[in-house]
Order: sequence, then C-alpha cells, then structure tokens
Amino acid sequence: MNTTNNTVLITGGSAGISFEIARQFAARGNKVIIAGRNAERLQKAASQIPGVTGIQADVTNKEDVARLVSTIKTQHPDLNLLINNAGSAFVYTLDGENNAYSKATAEMDTNYLSIVNLTEQLLPILRTSPDAAVVNVSSIVAFAPSAVLPTYTASKAALHAYTKTLRYTLRGTNVKVFELMPPLVDTEFSTEIGRHNGIKPSVVANDLLKALETDNYEIHVGDTAAIYQLSLKSPQEALLAMNNR
Ligand SMILES: NC(=O)c1ccc[n+]([C@@H]2O[C@H](COP(=O)([O-])OP(=O)(O)OC[C@H]3O[C@@H](n4cnc5c(N)ncnc54)[C@H](OP(=O)(O)O)[C@@H]3O)[C@@H](O)[C@H]2O)c1
Repeated sequence: MNTTNNTVLITGGSAGISFEIARQFAARGNKVIIAGRNAERLQKAASQIPGVTGIQADVTNKEDVARLVSTIKTQHPDLNLLINNAGSAFVYTLDGENNAYSKATAEMDTNYLSIVNLTEQLLPILRTSPDAAVVNVSSIVAFAPSAVLPTYTASKAALHAYTKTLRYTLRGTNVKVFELMPPLVDTEFSTEIGRHNGIKPSVVANDLLKALETDNYEIHVGDTAAIYQLSLKSPQEALLAMNNR
C-alpha cells in the first residue's frame, strides 16, 4: 500500500505510539485525523504536527463514535486508512479480589468491542476508495499471555482473531487488513508495566510504514518476532519466556 496521499484516521494520536504514527504519516504529506478523549491534549498534539486535525471522541462512547463517523462522512469522505490504536490495560493478577470482571469489561470495551464498532461503521467509506486499509494495533501478548495483564492479554487475543477473520473476509477487495503487534514500548501506557525499558514509539511507527509499503499484513515488531516463533514451536515455552522477563 502507498504511504503517501492517504487520508488517515488514528484513534488516539495525542500520545505514545499513535502520536509517532501521526507524525510520520503527516511528514509524508498524508492528511491525518486523530481522535482522543482529552480535547486539550488532542489539540496540543494536533498543533505540534502540521497537517493534523483533531476530533474529540471516546471510542467506547456510542454517541462520540456516531459523531466521529458523521464528521468523517461529511468532512473527510476520502478516508482510506483506519488505524485502530486506542487501548487500555490494567496491571493485576488473578489470584486476589482485584475486580477482574470490571477490569475485563473495560478492556474488552476499549481494546476489542470499540474496534468492531468503529470498523463496521467506517467500512462502507473505506470500500469506496480504490486502495484502503484497516490497521489494528494488538500486542505481543496476543501470542503469549502475560500473567500481570491477564484480561488485557485476552482482549488482544480476541482482537488478533477478529483481525484474521476480517482479513480473510475482505480478501480480494480494495480493503487490506494489517495487524501491528508491538512488544514493550516506552510510553505513558507502559510505565507501570515495564518502567522505561520499552523500545521507542518511532521504531513501531517506522515498522508500520515499511509493512504497509510491502503488504506485510502481520507486523511483528522487535521482540514480538522471537516470541511468535517460540509460540509456534512451544506455546508453553513462549508463556514462560513472556513471564520470566
Ligand atoms: N506501550 C506498549 O508497551 C504497548 C505494547 C503493545 C501494544 N500496545 C498497544 O498500542 C496501543 C497504543 O498504546 P500506547 O502505549 O501508545 O498508549 P498511550 O501512550 O497511553 O496513548 C494512547 C492514546 O490513545 C488515546 N485513547 C486511549 N483510550 C481512548 C479511548 N477510549 N478513545 C479514544 N482515544 C483513546 C489516548 O488519548 P486520551 O487519553 O486523551 O483518550 C492516547 O492518545 C494500545 O492499543 C496498546 O494496547 C502498547
């Protein structure tokens, strides 16, 4: 897929991996729209990157999503690239009374259900472009579960399965389906998980652009490649490797 002359919607975009993706797409002259919950943070990010527009929206809120979709239809009907990036995680274990159910509900809502909703609503627009794509941002944990991210892991595994079915269903159409699978990345999101030991968000954004250009649909960034290979050889060894870091 071409990485220039696109109209790109990124959920998030005001911080972390998505901010860097927005920056790199804008630098190549693409039209970039970012959508986050915190309007102030969103506008600040948009003002830092020429060519970027911010639309305040919480992807888990049905009214916000309806407004976002309607704005895209009227103001950006040439949208041809949807990047489902927004995600949330709770760090906890399943051996105590940690409100696992409410944490899992929130994670499934942000990391899985909101993507099913937004993608379904924007697919008719994407289908009108000669060259379109959906990118779902899952995680290394989709291949090997992390015990301190038990329900986040499950939400990303659900997203991984959904992405594969979407890709299969849309094969032979104008819409390509990519999955970006980062390892630990140094962002605000991951501070509690990995302090500042993660890779830079720019590495992830770079890998995404390269993968789009070469139609590499499952993007195993950094350590994700080794964990993927290990999970094929032995899921148990991959589980141990993920949890003995
Ligand atoms: N960082 C890692 O180590 C890592 C590793 C693997 C996968 N990932 C995945 O990569 C994605 C991005 O992570 P990140 O580390 O870049 O996170 P981040 O630094 O926390 O940034 C998340 C971005 O998404 C927005 N966002 C969060 N919830 C939202 C919602 N409900 N609706 C709309 N926007 C929302 C945030 O803005 P607002 O708060 O203003 O809404 C922010 O712009 C996530 O899907 C995450 O699961 C991250």
